[in-house]
Amino acid sequence: MPERTPYVAGNWKMWGSQAEARDLVAAIAPRVPAPAEVETAVCAPFTALATALEAAQGTDLAVLAQNMHQAQGGAFTGEVSAPMLTELGVQGVVLGHSERRQFFGETDRALQEKVPAALEAGLRPILCVGETEEENEAGETQRKLRQQVQEDLNGLAPQHLAEVVIAYEPIWAIGTGKTATAEQAQEACAFVRALVGDKSKEAAAAVRILYGGSVKPANAAGLMAQEDIDGALVGGASLEAESFLAIVEAAKGG
Ligand code: 13P
Repeated sequence: MPERTPYVAGNWKMWGSQAEARDLVAAIAPRVPAPAEVETAVCAPFTALATALEAAQGTDLAVLAQNMHQAQGGAFTGEVSAPMLTELGVQGVVLGHSERRQFFGETDRALQEKVPAALEAGLRPILCVGETEEENEAGETQRKLRQQVQEDLNGLAPQHLAEVVIAYEPIWAIGTGKTATAEQAQEACAFVRALVGDKSKEAAAAVRILYGGSVKPANAAGLMAQEDIDGALVGGASLEAESFLAIVEAAKGG
């Protein structure tokens, strides 16, 4: 089985003036481990990307965007394309975050085009999937994950599957302080890996699957010690250098 390098990304969401981004990256970037040990990234708002990239220059901290449009360019007012991001030096992009699905009408149909468009431009996508609280309580977690993984990765040739990072983020655990237990998270991440395995066994062994949803320094090690959890997508705890770095540290043993 291939060794999967742990991956920890901080999703700042709609937070971060340029000054705040510069300070936070300056505090984090010089202290992240070599990418062979743990890959690290921050996902900044569009307006702070250039500043974050400048502050991260010469370090191993990657800078990612939080969304993009699937087209290369065109009459799509207010949107940003993958080539616009790569021109800046951005290395990846979060796609299908539940907040985009819930509040901004992001669809599986659009994601089917966004995932290959990101890879084609040289951006590593972090594709987010996860169920709502009602779906969880109705025992529909697997149905939801199957639908999202199958549809969102449908446009991708099997040899590119392992280039995608998948984040399992149960919506009921996001920003609520209500983390999934390590066992719950492991079960869902193993299921996501099996879904990738339906498309390619090699990709399933190699693809990184992260857990996201109220990850904190106190629960990070337990989550990332699970067999099928290869890292974390961190919201609130990524806005403070020490807590983000403590989660990165916990990934070393994961
Ligand atoms: P919190 O860590 O704040 O729960 O956010 C998780 C998340 O949505 C990361 O993308």
